[in-house]
Amino acid sequence: MAKAAAFGFRRVAAETRQGFVNEVFSTVAARYDLMNDLMSGGLHRLWKDDLIGWLNPPRSTRSFALIDVAAGTGDITLKALSRGGPGCRVTLCDINPAMLAVGRSRINQAGMADRAGFCQANAEALPFADKSFDAFTIAFGIRNVTRIEQALIEAYRVLKPGGRFFCLEFSYCDVPMLDRLYDFHSFEIIPRLGALAAGAAEPYRYLVESIRAFPDQQRFAAMIGDAGFGRVGFRNLTGGIAAIHSGWRL
Ligand SMILES: C[S@@+](CC[C@H](N)C(=O)[O-])C[C@H]1O[C@@H](n2cnc3c(N)ncnc32)[C@H](O)[C@@H]1O
Repeated sequence: MAKAAAFGFRRVAAETRQGFVNEVFSTVAARYDLMNDLMSGGLHRLWKDDLIGWLNPPRSTRSFALIDVAAGTGDITLKALSRGGPGCRVTLCDINPAMLAVGRSRINQAGMADRAGFCQANAEALPFADKSFDAFTIAFGIRNVTRIEQALIEAYRVLKPGGRFFCLEFSYCDVPMLDRLYDFHSFEIIPRLGALAAGAAEPYRYLVESIRAFPDQQRFAAMIGDAGFGRVGFRNLTGGIAAIHSGWRL
């Protein structure tokens, strides 16, 4: 019998889930950046700055190879390249050609294409040799992947020993009042904003549901450890609405 996977709160066959996810991001690609700002009130920019601060790419000519998976429209890549020195190179990887096309055009416009490479691929099967990268980032991407355990194994495989994994993702808020406000915003405001600004509520309903179906901070940290990473830790952002997880390939 076909294995089921969560699509938001719904259960769909694991084989068809990625197709649904791809449709969602093809629908929202052109308005993704605008909607991100509207839905998070700009908070996602601060969270991404926190991730880059923690990643701390070298500002020198020292070679530093980052792979940004589920890179989408390229926010993490742009921030890493702005902060890192001339030795910093980023490979953007995303399964969706429409999202990747927006990312490519933004990186070209920023004049950073000489330090960026692009690759359309599934996080569960990265087309790179073992031990290729110094760091791995995935921001608001892992909850969209069908086999999260497999994506974590791939992250470990492509990192060099001593390389570091970072994941920025929505997580679990347990601050009284903030959690209720966040629920209201998620289930009442975001789908309406999606309908108004992007002409479609359904993709935004999926985004909210997929956030709630994702494991909490401790469970996700345990999954990262199970994939082989050491010294796993996380930082909560805005009361746990989002969290950055990190682990080392030792
Ligand atoms: C919410 S966007 C995040 C984009 C960007 N990292 C950011 O923080 O703004 C999620 C991205 O994950 C990509 N994605 C979904 N499933 C994927 C998979 N299995 N492998 C690689 N990318 C995937 C989507 O195409 C989309 O671009």
